[in-house]
Amino acid sequence: MRRKLVAGNWKMNGSLAANAALVAGIKEGLAAQACDVAVCVPAPYLAQVQALVAGSPVGLGAQDMSAHASGAYTGEVSASMLQEFGVQYVILGHSERRAYHGESDAAVAAKTVAALKAGLVPLVCVGETLEQREAGQTNAVVGGQLDVVLAALSAEEAARIVVAYEPVWAIGTGKTATPEMAQEVHAMLRARLGAKSAEAAAKVCILYGGSMKPDNAQQLLAMGDIDGGLIGGAALKAADFLAIINAAA
Ligand code: G3H
Repeated sequence: MRRKLVAGNWKMNGSLAANAALVAGIKEGLAAQACDVAVCVPAPYLAQVQALVAGSPVGLGAQDMSAHASGAYTGEVSASMLQEFGVQYVILGHSERRAYHGESDAAVAAKTVAALKAGLVPLVCVGETLEQREAGQTNAVVGGQLDVVLAALSAEEAARIVVAYEPVWAIGTGKTATPEMAQEVHAMLRARLGAKSAEAAAKVCILYGGSMKPDNAQQLLAMGDIDGGLIGGAALKAADFLAIINAAA
C-alpha cells in the first residue's frame, strides 16, 4: 500500500512570525503519524522552517529549483543548496511556474532529473486549463505532461517521483474536481506510469491539488488512485491543514 502524503504549498506567503505560528500549530495538532506531511516554503524561509520542523514528523519542501548544478544563473537555487537546508521534497512544474515563468515540459523534466540525482523527491505537477478540459483534451494534455518527464527517467527513477494532478481551473478558485473526475485522471496517470514500469505504477503517489479543503478532502482521498493532496490556501491555517491530514489518515 502507498503511504499517503499531504503537502502544503505556501506559495509566496508567510513571514518569520507567521511561519513560526503556523508550524507550531501544525506540530501541536499532529496526531500519531498516519500519513506523510510536508510544508513547501518560500526559499528565504528554508533555514527558519528547517529549525522549526526539526525532530518532528513534518517534512520540508521547496517550491522550485534549477536544473543546473551551479554557475551563472542569477536568482536560481540548486538541488544541493536545498539539500544543505534539510529539504526532502521539491515542487516542480507547478501551473503557476508554467504560466508565469514559461516553464516548458522539457524544463520540468530536466529539473526532475536533477532533483532525483540529488536525492530529493520531486512533486511533479500536471494539469489542464478549463479550455483544454472543455475541448476534451484533458488526458492528452495531462498525460502528455507526465510522459515528457517519464521519457527523461529510468524505470528506477520513475518509481521515486510523486505526481500532483492540479487542474488549473480548480487552483485557488474554490472549484474542486469531483472525486470521480479526479479519480479518472489519476487512473490515467497511473496507467502512464505503468507503461514506464510496473514498479512506478505501484509505488508512485499521485496527489490531488486544487481547492482541497477540510470539507471535501475525505471524499477525494477515499478514491483508489488519490494518494494525498498538494494544498495551497488551506495549508496556511493550521486547523484546516490538520483537518486534511486527518482525512488522509
Ligand atoms: O499547489 C497547490 C495548488 O496550487 C492548490 O492551491 O489549494 O489554493 O487551490 P489551492
